[in-house]
Amino acid sequence: MSEPPSIAADQFKALMGSFAAGVTVVTTRDLHGNPWGLTATAFSSLSLDPPLCLVCIDRRTASHRPLVDSGRFAVSMLTDQQQDLSNHFASKLSDKFAGVPWIPGTVTAIPVLSEALAWMECSVAAIHDGGDHDIFVGRILSAHLRDGKPLIYWRGAYADLTSRPKAW
Ligand SMILES: Cc1cc2nc3c(=O)[nH]c(=O)nc-3n(C[C@H](O)[C@H](O)[C@H](O)COP(=O)(O)O)c2cc1C
Repeated sequence: MSEPPSIAADQFKALMGSFAAGVTVVTTRDLHGNPWGLTATAFSSLSLDPPLCLVCIDRRTASHRPLVDSGRFAVSMLTDQQQDLSNHFASKLSDKFAGVPWIPGTVTAIPVLSEALAWMECSVAAIHDGGDHDIFVGRILSAHLRDGKPLIYWRGAYADLTSRPKAW
């Protein structure tokens, strides 16, 4: 049997980068209470009843083990004013929370970015294998929204959103 057709890594990146994505920061606390977080665009709504979302996390990230261990996470959706925070949480800094405006989540006390467009807290409902990533399914425990415009990532760069949203 011949191998099924596949695509090269650079083709994969160009392909997936063509899908414009909102930027989030996924956070958790490890078993010692230390905060962890990383920038993630692989976030999606999943289910209304029960309320579920998912986020895909590279197993090689430092945040992966704390996410598995804690069984809880928070997702902060960034505004177009938070590009620096996106770059900050995409870095490998040892303490990403120093000097960053965060508050403890109301249910889990996991740090959320206080000036985010929206944030939610989740309990991990399932973890599925996703190649070199794991798919964390979160049951949403709390929801908070603010005014603002989203930070968009598209084709390897941050992009503008000029249209106005309908009222929510
Ligand atoms: C715009 C953007 C989107 C990203 N999306 C994801 C993602 O969805 N999942 C993921 O595992 N890493 C994603 N990353 C990479 C992580 O943020 C990066 O590997 C980070 O350094 C991991 O931090 P940690 O090792 O301290 O956990 C993204 C990076 C950027 C800049």
